[in-house]
Amino acid sequence: MEKNVFGMIGLGTMGRNLLLNMADHGFKVTGYDKSEEQVAHLNKEGIATNTYGTTDLKTFISSLKTPRAIMMLVPAGKIVDAVIQDLLPLLEQGDLIIDGGNSHFTDTDHRFTFLKEKGIHFFGMGISGGEKGARFGPSMMPGGDEKAYDVVKPILEAVSAKVNHEPCVTYIGPGASGHFVKMVHNGIEYALMQLIAEAYEIMKTGLKMDDAAIGETFKTWNQGRLHSYLLEITTDIFQYTAPGDEKILINYIKDEAKAKGTGKWTSQESMDLQAATTCIDTAVSMRDLSKQKDWRLKAAELYPPAKAFQTDAKVFLHDLENALYFATVITYAQGMEMLYKASQELNYHLNLANCAKIWRGGCIIRAAFLDDIYQAFQNKNLQHLLLNQAVADKIKQTEKGTRNILHHAIEAQISMPVFTSALSYFDSFKTARMPSNLIQAQRDYFGAHTYERIDQEGIFHTQWN
Ligand code: 6PG
Repeated sequence: MEKNVFGMIGLGTMGRNLLLNMADHGFKVTGYDKSEEQVAHLNKEGIATNTYGTTDLKTFISSLKTPRAIMMLVPAGKIVDAVIQDLLPLLEQGDLIIDGGNSHFTDTDHRFTFLKEKGIHFFGMGISGGEKGARFGPSMMPGGDEKAYDVVKPILEAVSAKVNHEPCVTYIGPGASGHFVKMVHNGIEYALMQLIAEAYEIMKTGLKMDDAAIGETFKTWNQGRLHSYLLEITTDIFQYTAPGDEKILINYIKDEAKAKGTGKWTSQESMDLQAATTCIDTAVSMRDLSKQKDWRLKAAELYPPAKAFQTDAKVFLHDLENALYFATVITYAQGMEMLYKASQELNYHLNLANCAKIWRGGCIIRAAFLDDIYQAFQNKNLQHLLLNQAVADKIKQTEKGTRNILHHAIEAQISMPVFTSALSYFDSFKTARMPSNLIQAQRDYFGAHTYERIDQEGIFHTQWN
């Protein structure tokens, strides 16, 4: 009997949908899950494409063509290691395991080394796009042994999202680079989501706009240069009223933002890399602050509330669109800064243009601006997105609107922390002289940490008092 070319372990929403996507593209695939219910679900949905599911691991393994290509889509953490342990006695040298979950890249590093010693190839592959993406075209970020990529390349390219007929998947780099790039993707995702939420807040509280008008504004923006998946779903969210409810659903949703941790990982790692990702860091902190609802309720009684302001709404919304564009560009620039640093520090040899290229479709942060990033990094010597002339022109066009918005927000006590972070980062980035000379003096004063001078070579220490 002809064997199947791909196996999936974990037939939950993501695993099942990705496998069905492969089957739709003509690949013969096998699915494995411990749960009979999940296997039955796959067998029912995949009946037209002869997709085969089993609860028996040995049957699963023997159904696959060698060298085997097996993907795990199971929750990140200990389960990934447990599955690897179950698989090991059944695999042969040259087989490939792909972890398609949101694993921490350092775990992927360990697994990569561990499996390499056993002659098994390992890929950490970020997959973005949620349920729909998995079913009809995700963006995928595979990293690991390049030779092993050739085996799965045709399958991954076939099932991925396409932009201008180009697949939203490419070999990212060695080791854990695939999971690293996905982690940064998620960090950017956190900041972009927080930015949209802050824009919502100033329209609601500052301008006193009703939900319909706010939804219309998001819709209009999404038709222009801000076109993005996140604005698209936001537009849908502003149109959804649950049966029996008076107002649209978001008015009933508790204002505590949960997180699975990938945004936090990005911030933690950016500190290690000394990449300044202020927008991402702030977005992570705001999710944390949102969870302190009890404190916020008490503080709301202690301090005055945010207030509305009078202004020409048309002009204001024009500025707000500029500000959202500005802060979006800064957010992506910080994400790319982090990838640039990781590429050097962790020897990932990332092709930054390709990272932007595969984010243009299928993933959560897909947006019109990714094409600009893709174009900018065609210049292999570009070190920072904000140093690209075309991007600089866009920043200069939108900067004034950003300042106007934040002026109003500060006056009206409306919190816009990621917009503020973006602007402050930019103001620091574009200055030839930062006040950090004073920090150096203070460090030398209290700790004899020494300093360098701008007029003489060498290391100096002063007896300050
Ligand atoms: C994606 C998403 C996906 C997941 C987020 C949610 O790219 O498809 O990023 O990976 O939905 O990790 O993250 P939080 O639960 O932390 O918001």
